[in-house]
Amino acid sequence: MSIDPAELSGVRRGPLHAGERVTLADMRGHRHTLLLEPGRIFHTTKGALAHDDIIGRPQGVVVSTVGGLEFTVFRPLLHEYTVSMPREAAVIYPKDAAQIVLWADVFPGARVLESGVGSGALSLYLLRAIGPTGTLHSYERRDEFAQVALGNVEEFLGGPHPGWTVTVGGLVETIADEPVDRAILDMLRPWDCIDAVAERLVPGGLLCCYVTTTTQMGCVADQLRHHGGFTEPTITETTVREWHAEGLAIRPGHGTSAHTGFLIVSRRMAPGVLAPVRKRRPAPGAYGPDYHGPVPRTVAAEHLEANRRRAADDSDRIAPAVRKALRRRVR
Ligand SMILES: C[S@@+](CC[C@H](N)C(=O)[O-])C[C@H]1O[C@@H](n2cnc3c(N)ncnc32)[C@H](O)[C@@H]1O
Repeated sequence: MSIDPAELSGVRRGPLHAGERVTLADMRGHRHTLLLEPGRIFHTTKGALAHDDIIGRPQGVVVSTVGGLEFTVFRPLLHEYTVSMPREAAVIYPKDAAQIVLWADVFPGARVLESGVGSGALSLYLLRAIGPTGTLHSYERRDEFAQVALGNVEEFLGGPHPGWTVTVGGLVETIADEPVDRAILDMLRPWDCIDAVAERLVPGGLLCCYVTTTTQMGCVADQLRHHGGFTEPTITETTVREWHAEGLAIRPGHGTSAHTGFLIVSRRMAPGVLAPVRKRRPAPGAYGPDYHGPVPRTVAAEHLEANRRRAADDSDRIAPAVRKALRRRVR
């Protein structure tokens, strides 16, 4: 029997019916989410709107309140749902989720590991990408977060996904001994989990870490190099800029995204194989006395020592460019 590709995607077809969520949007861009219920009334400052005016109709209709306020009616898309659903922890934003699915190469039928689950936003994107034949094993150390995520995911999909397992507990302490094709970490200290994940990630598999600060970014990158069994990581940040186009008035819109986080993506080498690396001296001060993280295995002991000495010697000195600028100001 063939599987309907839309199965478990959360996408519903046909007329809108009672018990479903719909998004109402007015011309000023204000949005409201309604859970359709026969006999129920939605109140606005411009009068009331009966849910019965929506139930049984197709998506894309326009409905009006008694006072003439018009709304378009659609089922929420996945990205709209993830930013409006109940949340306990911060969710991955749509722009980053889209990049994760692409750069971590999440495919239908994949075996994916995810940690932490938080509110379940990324879980939803991953479940959609793996489809009905894939598996997602998600780890979350806080039970109350896991419960919210389970509720959010089931509500969107309309029931449980047979390929989704949620384990409550710290990732390193509870990780299952099973091979995974892709691993996505969105947690405070992903670098602590790299050894455990590396043991389960198949050769050629991808690890993608989402972090919000540059300090975390550095820790992940250096831990991957220190481990050795991963390719040199690719690090990116995504900015999305909206545009306004109306006749000759074409300009950037107001909806440019602010900073959310960074993606660090790397591939697993074959068992026992160390990734080849360019041998070079680290940048001055890169691993100086103030650095306390993992040191990449390619940084030779003598380079490390020289780097530390140089950083310590330089710390009291004024850089030549700064000295020159100061002299100019004094004159
Ligand atoms: C930012 S939230 C994840 C948000 C989620 N990706 C989403 O889109 O809804 C980070 C989560 O990681 C969990 N966490 C942190 N360290 C963990 C660990 N060692 N093992 C499992 N979960 C962990 C936290 O409890 C938190 O819920």
